[in-house]
Amino acid sequence: MKTNYKFHKEDKITALTGAGISAESGIKTFRDRDGLWENHRIEEVASPVAFSKNPEMVWEFYKQRYLQLAKVSPNSAHFALKKMEDFCSSNFNLITQNVDGLHQIAGNINVLEMHGSLRQCFCSKCLHSFEMKEIDFEQKIPKCDHCSGNLRPNIVWFGEMPYEMEKIDKILENTKYFIVIGTSGIVYPAARFLSIAKYFGAKAIEINLEYPINSVVLDEFHLGKAGILLPELIEKWIT
Ligand code: APR
Repeated sequence: MKTNYKFHKEDKITALTGAGISAESGIKTFRDRDGLWENHRIEEVASPVAFSKNPEMVWEFYKQRYLQLAKVSPNSAHFALKKMEDFCSSNFNLITQNVDGLHQIAGNINVLEMHGSLRQCFCSKCLHSFEMKEIDFEQKIPKCDHCSGNLRPNIVWFGEMPYEMEKIDKILENTKYFIVIGTSGIVYPAARFLSIAKYFGAKAIEINLEYPINSVVLDEFHLGKAGILLPELIEKWIT
């Protein structure tokens, strides 16, 4: 596989990951053929309106996804990004739309979880936060043991402001290589990051199983599985 690039330790490098990087760990993506859950589209479940209308159904969805985490582990694409962080340390920023925590388990330290984390939840009344592993899932709607309000997963739902946006904006203005891995690029604001980074002079590289809608702005595109391509590419990029 050919690449035009060679990275140096002082290069500012940013990776944006989506569900596709965890697909080979066995976690379903959202918009591939089998991306539905109990015939619900993600947009119908992951929203404040869905939670206020049917908190039990929303909790059932996230409880299933949380319990699945115990059975999955990082794949070679996650470990390749750990190698990237080892190579250029604080010059490497990892922005993820994923909430599975697999980047941290693979050893990445500097991870910006812009859509939250499935391993945490918080009280929708007093905002006290809890680890998901503390929750009694016998309760259909887990309650806060501080104020007995309804707990909710620490997930950024459609219509809510993602986390870390100020930090991300600064990173996008000062990135030499912007690498997009396993995202359909249709959910904002993440869908805009590539063009912003390009505007500020970044080289844009993408790895995906399918040609993305915004492929015209890419400087390099690699078609295939992240678990296979990313380790090979990182070998070529950093040695
Ligand atoms: N290697 C590389 N890319 C892959 C692989 C793989 N093994 N498997 C799937 N893909 C690609 C698909 O081609 C698709 O482009 O990953 C992408 C997955 O797209 P989505 O399912 O839309 O997931 P994502 O882009 O992360 O969704 C963004 O939408 O539902 C919300 O909050 C949720 O964070 C999520 C956001």
